[in-house]
Amino acid sequence: MLTLAIETSCDETSAAVLDDRKVLSNIISSQVFHTEYGGVVPEVASREHLKKLPEITSKALQAASTELKQIDIIAATSEPGLIGALLTGLNFARGISISINKPFIPVNHIQAHLYSNMLSGQQLEFPFIGLIVSGGHTLLVLAEDLFKHKILGSTIDDAAGEAFDKVAKLLGLGYPGGQAIDKNASEGNSSFHKFPHAKVKNDFDFSFSGIKTSVLYYLRNNDFENSKTEKLINDISASFQRTVVDMLADKTIKAAEKYNVKTISVSGGVSANKGLREKLMKLEKDGYRIYFPELQYSTDNAAMIGLAAYLKYNSSIDKKYFETDSLKQPARPRIDHENF
Ligand code: KG4
Ligand code: ZN
Repeated sequence: MLTLAIETSCDETSAAVLDDRKVLSNIISSQVFHTEYGGVVPEVASREHLKKLPEITSKALQAASTELKQIDIIAATSEPGLIGALLTGLNFARGISISINKPFIPVNHIQAHLYSNMLSGQQLEFPFIGLIVSGGHTLLVLAEDLFKHKILGSTIDDAAGEAFDKVAKLLGLGYPGGQAIDKNASEGNSSFHKFPHAKVKNDFDFSFSGIKTSVLYYLRNNDFENSKTEKLINDISASFQRTVVDMLADKTIKAAEKYNVKTISVSGGVSANKGLREKLMKLEKDGYRIYFPELQYSTDNAAMIGLAAYLKYNSSIDKKYFETDSLKQPARPRIDHENF
């Protein structure tokens, strides 16, 4: 079954073609110009998606040596995300679905991250503890079966990626800053300064706004602007990253212990982080199976949207739901198992 998938929930315009679970192409165009504003400007993002969608989609079809008429199902991210940005991809994909008279599958972006470790032939099996860490979300879930998961905890304020981005901004590392902090941290001393771990009521909830503020105060109190050196930036990056990684890893391990699950799957943009990978991979010696996506499937991409759509279509009891004229489908259909 050939799936054409579109992702436009934030600042990546992406299109992918999959043959069942196998990725034939995954084209990603990142909107780098948001850097000068220090964050994503929603209206600018939507307009850029509109401009880029036809070209990126053609490239994805070409790279997969596929023609539109061969496609069996069309998918697009329907939620969550920037509403204008989502609508560009959704309507583009629904337009294609109507024109070739093939089913349209709306996909929840977080579910797509959750299953991204089933891409590239990885044999991720249920049950598993899923840690989804992106720029907009931080969630810990117990995934019992396809589309059957229990949310154990989530962030009560900033997302993990958001904390990386905000601290990168304070350190003058640009936007988005997760990757830059990761790179600087690898050269720095993670014991340079101890930033506090946030305390939250629910064992599996997270909080990252406090650590961002404590980095801010540290920089102010130590006259960072006038004393900054590459070494200092590396050391602060390493100390900050260590704290965030410890907070994420500790709760993930606790969840695995509590629910007696030996498989852990980490996904979302922050799953690209080297520190987080190193820390959790060490658990393999204790008998855990640890999954991280290939880097191209960590940050936003259409391949994961295609896989989630394929899984959803094939596990759907009522396939007719997707077969009906796409125009008659609501933009955000309600499906019982979608509880993100
Ligand atoms: O999943 P994603 O591409 O978009 C959302 O769904 O939000 O995640 C983007 C986030 C950004 O906050 C970015 O700074 C962070 O992922 N990120 C990283 C790394 N690469 C990307 N954070 C830490 N270390 C990285 N290597
Ligand atoms: Zn994402």
